[in-house]
Amino acid sequence: NIHTKSYLRHVESMKILPSGAGQISELKAVILGDSLASEENDLVFPSQPFSNQALVSSPQKYLEMYKRSIEDPAGFWSDIASEFYWEKKWGQQVNSENLDVTKGKISIEWFKGGITNICYNCLDANIKAGNGDKVALHWEGNEPGVDGSLTYRQLLERVCQLANFLKDKGVKKGDTVIIYLPMIMELPIAMLACARIGAVHSVVFAGYSAESLNQRVVDCKPKIVITCNAVMRGKKIIDLKNIVDAALLESSQNGISVDLCLTFENESAMKKEATKWQKGRDIWWQDVVPKYPTTCDVEWVDAEDPLFLLYTSGSTGKPKGVLHTTGGYMIYTATTFKYAFDYKDSDIYWCTADCGWITGHSYVTYGPLLNGATVVLYEGVPNYPDSGRCWEIVDKYNVTIFYTAPTLYVTRHSRKSLRVLGSVGEPINPSAWRWFYNVVGDSRCPISDTWWQTETGGFMITPLPGAWPQKPGSATFPFFGVQPVIVDEKGNEIDGECSGYLCVKSSWPGAFRTLYGDHERYETTYFKAFAGYYFSGDGCSRDKDGYHWLTGRVDDVINVSGHRIGTAEVESALVSHPQCAEAAVVGVEHEVKGQGIYAFVTLVEGVPYSEDLRKSLVLVVRNQIGAFAAPDKIHWAPSLPKTRSGKIMRRILRKIASRQLDELGDISTLADPSVVDQLISLADS
Ligand code: PRX
Repeated sequence: NIHTKSYLRHVESMKILPSGAGQISELKAVILGDSLASEENDLVFPSQPFSNQALVSSPQKYLEMYKRSIEDPAGFWSDIASEFYWEKKWGQQVNSENLDVTKGKISIEWFKGGITNICYNCLDANIKAGNGDKVALHWEGNEPGVDGSLTYRQLLERVCQLANFLKDKGVKKGDTVIIYLPMIMELPIAMLACARIGAVHSVVFAGYSAESLNQRVVDCKPKIVITCNAVMRGKKIIDLKNIVDAALLESSQNGISVDLCLTFENESAMKKEATKWQKGRDIWWQDVVPKYPTTCDVEWVDAEDPLFLLYTSGSTGKPKGVLHTTGGYMIYTATTFKYAFDYKDSDIYWCTADCGWITGHSYVTYGPLLNGATVVLYEGVPNYPDSGRCWEIVDKYNVTIFYTAPTLYVTRHSRKSLRVLGSVGEPINPSAWRWFYNVVGDSRCPISDTWWQTETGGFMITPLPGAWPQKPGSATFPFFGVQPVIVDEKGNEIDGECSGYLCVKSSWPGAFRTLYGDHERYETTYFKAFAGYYFSGDGCSRDKDGYHWLTGRVDDVINVSGHRIGTAEVESALVSHPQCAEAAVVGVEHEVKGQGIYAFVTLVEGVPYSEDLRKSLVLVVRNQIGAFAAPDKIHWAPSLPKTRSGKIMRRILRKIASRQLDELGDISTLADPSVVDQLISLADS
């Protein structure tokens, strides 16, 4: 394994000092000479006290563990898996895989034959270990002062009641359940209840529109939909039940009817009486669920039985149902959580992500609960009632580990409790990194800049706080068992200091196993571009010290505030507008959201461009996808730059969108180069 060896050489050659290295400037001179003195190579060392208490306290310790995880993955992961509860141990073979399309069907298996249950490991096992009275969830409502909490024992009781209800309604192992809920405790409760009975949950972010929800219902045909009547986001009421009604009406017209819609009354947002109701189909959660017994036998499942589906956007076509199975995902989320956040029993953990995204699956629900952690759930938006809210929450619960997207702001409040910070969803630039480090973390908390994806299940490239010096803006090194490779256009691995396409060689336990109902698309999208590797869709460079720097998507996917949106989806929403003839969407840098959505729109002939039309174009995207996908800018385009074969040249559109007009490059291959000048002249109109 040439690459791994050279990678290890890289890290070894860093000769990072023993833990707790003190003053950066002196050290830099000592260890690395002056060659690293430039800004982007600034090293930030963990403090001595931090390293002393860290789970992985030195580069040497990391290297030792990493080496073993690569050389003996079966041994490494089965040692860890043995710490979990298995009703029956996995078979002789810990893992098997084929990641090479030229050698047959892509397949990944971990712990096959092992029988377990992730809900049991999250709850029952922790209670057995003496954590029954420990708080599992602190819930902070949208309105300051509205809150609640559940201990592990109470959470188990709630989960069991819902699990019993589901069973009673005929939901069985392998059935799908759609969960369309905001960040209230019932969301993780519903996920865990499904897992307990072996049902496959598919959480749909409650910011998605009726159309998007309908699409997912039609794709995965759930036995039941779990929702609530409404939610407050800041001062706005969102009538979720209305959205569900519209979605289910549409799916029934598409031939998929859902017979049961369990609806939680989210009293603080809307009363029962104000909620639209479909008799026979809708049931109030509060009327039925609490009547069920508070214990429920576990459905034991195979490690390779599906745990959940989560839809995510691709560069083309309809959303993809990313499928994760039970055993590998369980071991992987628990282990990544523990090491990347240097988790200790006394920690209070808050992740600002919504359970509607993968971050909320792996690092609000499963990863932390598997570790017996106390988790803060927040219903509202970060700036309500004002921009100090996040830090008020940190102070109120004495949060020690704070995991968020780099687009969250603000100062004020002591934040003394914090000890580890995490960042996810998009590249964090060095100045944002320094701000997060200096201001939020008082220059004392290491930052785990975690690179991963819905598909990867858990962290792939991430710092292990305390283990080695950080470089602001770099996700640093791979997690145990992960072999990132950077390849060129032709799929050749490039070594040393380089940049290219980020792929992964060999499987890891948390990898997704297929796209629901479309294994062929799974193979084409992820394994055909570079045979033998999983292709992430991201660009990445590696510096001479072996640190990884993510450079963003190389496909047509935009990352808005850490939410992944396919340009094709936004385009198809726009062209569904009767007055839109054609649309091309690109991402642009956005101060607050990381990336913003920039849409070039060609109108049907004879239709004049107007402010009203602009608004209705934006509205059509909000209605078809969700508010978070609304374009930030509509740029009127009498025509689009196309090659002679009719392909839209997005490269040029990206440059126009970001006003890098002197970097347009060669436009001579365009069918009509004058289109470019025309677009530029309309840029700010
Ligand atoms: O482009 C990368 C970016 O987010 C994408 C994955 O999006 P999603 O599946 O929605 O999951 C988001 C939460 C894991 C990646 O392809 N991304 C995620 N984390 C980082 C990142 N880019 C740079 N640095 C990160 N830490």
